[in-house]
Amino acid sequence: MEENKSFVEVTDISFIEFSGSHPELLDDLFKQMGFNVREKDGMFFYNIADINFISNPTSGGSAEAFRNKHVRGASAMGFKVGNSQKAYELALSLGAEPAEAADLGIPAIKGVGAAIIYLVDEANEHTLFEKFGFDKTCDKFSANSLARVDHLTHNLHTGGVSRMCKFYEDVFGFSRIRKFDINGKKTGLFSEVVSSANGRVVIPLNESKDDKSQIAEYLEEYNGEGIQHIALLCDDIFDTVGSLKSNGIPFQDTLDTYYEQVEERVPGHGEDMEALQQHRILIDGGEAQGGGLLLQIFTKNSIGPIFFEFIERKGNKGFGEGNFQALFDSIELDQERRGVI
Ligand SMILES: [Fe+2]
Repeated sequence: MEENKSFVEVTDISFIEFSGSHPELLDDLFKQMGFNVREKDGMFFYNIADINFISNPTSGGSAEAFRNKHVRGASAMGFKVGNSQKAYELALSLGAEPAEAADLGIPAIKGVGAAIIYLVDEANEHTLFEKFGFDKTCDKFSANSLARVDHLTHNLHTGGVSRMCKFYEDVFGFSRIRKFDINGKKTGLFSEVVSSANGRVVIPLNESKDDKSQIAEYLEEYNGEGIQHIALLCDDIFDTVGSLKSNGIPFQDTLDTYYEQVEERVPGHGEDMEALQQHRILIDGGEAQGGGLLLQIFTKNSIGPIFFEFIERKGNKGFGEGNFQALFDSIELDQERRGVI
């Protein structure tokens, strides 16, 4: 279908590939998250529902080149397209650069930092997954209410947001669906979100407004730009978080003062406050944030500076922008009570 379009049409995220020289750490993490694992030729394939992760510790190709730059992290994304070869040729004609020595034997282009983007059609997705003995029509594993990848972010240097917006627009026809500024007292960030036409591939692009923000810290630790957090959509976040906590996944904590401010910030939300507070789940939405509700929680850094988000959407299409400010306010309120400020 690509030949009739002026861009490469992307319909989904087929998989996310990770690489690190200690694959056992990734293995522990993904097993704790409930993934079913299969191994073949030194690579590992993890599945729950429509979420497919590959751990690629191999040497001599794209994963090693990635590790040489970033040490460990998200080394590739597989974008689902109609026809890999045609998509690849079209992408190059639109200014994409070819990825050298791509390990998985599927046409790939350069992505963010040293990560690459595989252009995966139905046939080569089938071949790749079959290699691990996985047939997505009948072998999908189910665990912890997890459903699919909701979004994943890129952390970028100053000027990177407009550069990567243009890349995703020019090559994949993504549109800019939202942008926001987050201003803390001392640090800030600017974010713009791009999305595929069908809304299945959503990428918030972040850049720092100063040299001390969480984005700046990431760029330092990761040795450059890359994928920062991966948000997994779940059907029942209370179930998800309960299971993952009992499996030992460490989550970011939230101050009690955050929960004191919820009723005022998201009036009439109808959620069980005690359960929210017990699990340290964050809530956003309401009229001030585009209507509906969004429940979310973040893990601590789990692969270098990369972390995961678990998100349940109840009619809200945002990314928890209201929570940035609310978390900041809850820290200040706590500091005031402790007499620090
Ligand atoms: Fe997020």
